[in-house]
Amino acid sequence: MNSAAPRSCFLPDEPWPDDQGNHINAHGGGILHHAGVYYWFGEHKEDGDTAEVGVHVYSSTDLYNWTDRGIALAVVETPGHDIERGCIIERPKVIFNPPTGKFVMWFHLELKGHGRKAARSGVAVSDSPAGPFRYLHSLRPNPGVWPLNVTPAQIAALPEGQKLVGTAFWGSPHPDRAKMNFLGRDFHSGQMAKDMTLFVDDDGAAYHVYSSEENSTLHLARLSADFTTHDGAWTRAFPYLWHEAPALFKHAGRYWMLSSHCTGWNPNTARLSVADSIWGPWRELGNPCTSPAPAGRLGPELTFGGQSTHVLPVHGKPGAFIAMFDTWRPEAHRTGGYLWLPLRFENDRFTLEWLERWDLSVFGA
Ligand code: GAL
Repeated sequence: MNSAAPRSCFLPDEPWPDDQGNHINAHGGGILHHAGVYYWFGEHKEDGDTAEVGVHVYSSTDLYNWTDRGIALAVVETPGHDIERGCIIERPKVIFNPPTGKFVMWFHLELKGHGRKAARSGVAVSDSPAGPFRYLHSLRPNPGVWPLNVTPAQIAALPEGQKLVGTAFWGSPHPDRAKMNFLGRDFHSGQMAKDMTLFVDDDGAAYHVYSSEENSTLHLARLSADFTTHDGAWTRAFPYLWHEAPALFKHAGRYWMLSSHCTGWNPNTARLSVADSIWGPWRELGNPCTSPAPAGRLGPELTFGGQSTHVLPVHGKPGAFIAMFDTWRPEAHRTGGYLWLPLRFENDRFTLEWLERWDLSVFGA
C-alpha cells in the first residue's frame, strides 16, 4: 500500500486517500471532535446497499489527512441478529456522554432481508472514541408517546391511523399518500426512523433527528440522560414536506438545519432551515447553494451532485462550519465521493458556493 502525500486542502468530490492510500470508506458519515482529535464515522460500503463490514472510523487532527482506525462497529455473522451481515446500516453518528464517559453511536438500521420497512434505530457504545463499539439494541422511537406539538385532531384520528397498520410505502412524495396518517399508524409500535443525525446542545442535552412517517415528516426527539434511548420529549417538524439527510448545527443562538428532498440516491436541491428553539417552529429558507454550475458538474439546484450528511463546526474557529455531502455512486457505492464546502454566513442566512479547492483559511484567522 502506498502512503499518500500529506494534503493541505480540500478537493471536493475528488478521491480522498487515507493514510494507506485507500479512498476513505465512510459514507453518510458524521464527525465527533474529542480531546483535540476529529473522528469521522461512516458507512463502510462495498458495491451494494447492504452492510457487509460495518461502520468505519478515521481520525485526523487537521481535517485534511485521515488515518484509518478500522471498523468501529462490525456486522455479525449470527443469523437473525439485528446487525447481521447483509442488514442496512446508514448514516451512523457518534456523540460523547460525559456522565457515563461513553461514546454513543446511533444509526439507521434495516433488518436483513426486509428491504427498508423496519426503519429502526441502532445504538452501540464504546469506552474509547475509535471503538470498538458494543452493539446495545435497536428501537422504533417513542412508542405510545405523542409529540409535544400533537393536536387534538391527531389524537382523535388515532383509530383511523390504526387502520393503516401493516401497510408500507416507498418513502417519497406521492399524491395518494400526501396526508396519510402514519403518525397514528405507528403510534403504538414506535415511529419510523430513517435518515438521521445527532445533535448535542450547549446544555448537554442530545437530540435524535430523523426522517419519519415514510419520510414525509421530520422528528426531533430528545435522548435519555445516558444517550442510549429517548426520554419521551419530541416534536414533528415540516409535516408532509419530505425532508431527508438532516444535519443540525447551532449558530448565534439559533438552530440551523441542512437537509434534502427525497429522491433516493439521486441528487436534489439542498434545503436550509432555521428555528429559535429546537422544538420549532422551523422555517425553510430555501436552497443555500448559490454559485453557478461548475464546469462538467451538476449545478446548485442539484447540490453540485451531493446530499447532506453532517455540518461540522471547526474546532477553535467560532462560526466556522463545513457542510459535508456525499456524492452517491450506487453502481459502485465504495467509490462514492465526499463533497465538503464551507458555509458562509451572510444576510442572516448561510450560503454555499462551489470551490474546486479550498482550505481552512477561508474562515479567517
Ligand atoms: C437516500 C438516503 C440514503 C439512502 C438512500 C436509499 O434518500 O438519503 O441514506 O437511504 O436514500 O435509496
